[in-house]
Amino acid sequence: MQLSNSTSSFNSGSGQHEYRFTADDFKRISALMYQRAGVCLPPKKAEMVYSRLSRRLRLLELDSFSVYLDYLTKGDGSEWGPFVGALTTHLTSFFREEHHFSILAEHAVKKASSGRVKLWSSAASTGEEPYSIAISMAEQFGSLAPPVDIMATDVDPGVLATARAGIYPVERIEFLSEQIMRRYFLRGGKENCGYVKVRPELQKMVTFNTVNLLDHVWPHSVQYDAVFCRNVMIYFDRSTQKRVLQHVLRHLKTDGLFFAGHSENLNHVADLFDHCGKTVYRPHICQPVCSGDVAYGEECYA
Ligand SMILES: C[S@@+](CC[C@H](N)C(=O)[O-])C[C@H]1O[C@@H](n2cnc3c(N)ncnc32)[C@H](O)[C@@H]1O
Repeated sequence: MQLSNSTSSFNSGSGQHEYRFTADDFKRISALMYQRAGVCLPPKKAEMVYSRLSRRLRLLELDSFSVYLDYLTKGDGSEWGPFVGALTTHLTSFFREEHHFSILAEHAVKKASSGRVKLWSSAASTGEEPYSIAISMAEQFGSLAPPVDIMATDVDPGVLATARAGIYPVERIEFLSEQIMRRYFLRGGKENCGYVKVRPELQKMVTFNTVNLLDHVWPHSVQYDAVFCRNVMIYFDRSTQKRVLQHVLRHLKTDGLFFAGHSENLNHVADLFDHCGKTVYRPHICQPVCSGDVAYGEECYA
């Protein structure tokens, strides 16, 4: 899709395009998306934006993008979830980046000696990540009720509804061993044939909540033993990443672990995190600046 730099449309709303979509519509949408979710939408995403939001216009029976944007910004606020949801990528899978789960299991066992282990999946999407965490914990502790609490959050309430239901097409888990499938999933019968449901014991371990990582206040005040923040930072620019990471640090124990996605690294925030494994990090503990004083750099978690 070719962007023009004026209010003229870069499609006419005719031919293959149902609605007129102008460069100004796109600019407004990308600014709103940045403010709301920290997600940067470069002009090459215009076709994707058009196609995903057209579905919202159709569903809401609105006849133009400008009417839709007024509805979004001046309405009762209920469209923000679907708007952000339509423009973000929810790609995920069970045991994605599998190496993280053995590191987490080892860490959780150590932490369990001093109380319940608190884990946070902060961009949980449709739930495969928090349920993979739950399965790892159940396996590690040899129990369907391990001493572990998992918080699973996402900015998009739509994906969290899927996560809460815990129902997936059977193909999503077919690569798992027969033993794991049998232990942690129930097969759908009759009209649910072809689907599996996560066992209720596993679901009990996870609490779901809508949280925008960009918000200045998060609705939970827990200090976590580990935070999964995988494959979401790539959608934020550097300054947003830093702000979010500083905030995450306030919710991560000093000996906690931070798990990033495969294409995310925290090299640009080496003052905040130390690398301690493949895309695994620990809070950086600052060295005293003067002997005798325990002084912390202002950027550091305290
Ligand atoms: C690609 S998925 C990653 C899912 C999972 N963490 C994984 O690695 O498989 C990215 C998720 O980040 C969520 N997301 C995007 N912006 C967010 C924000 N500002 N706050 C919280 N979640 C956000 C999206 O809704 C989406 O579900």
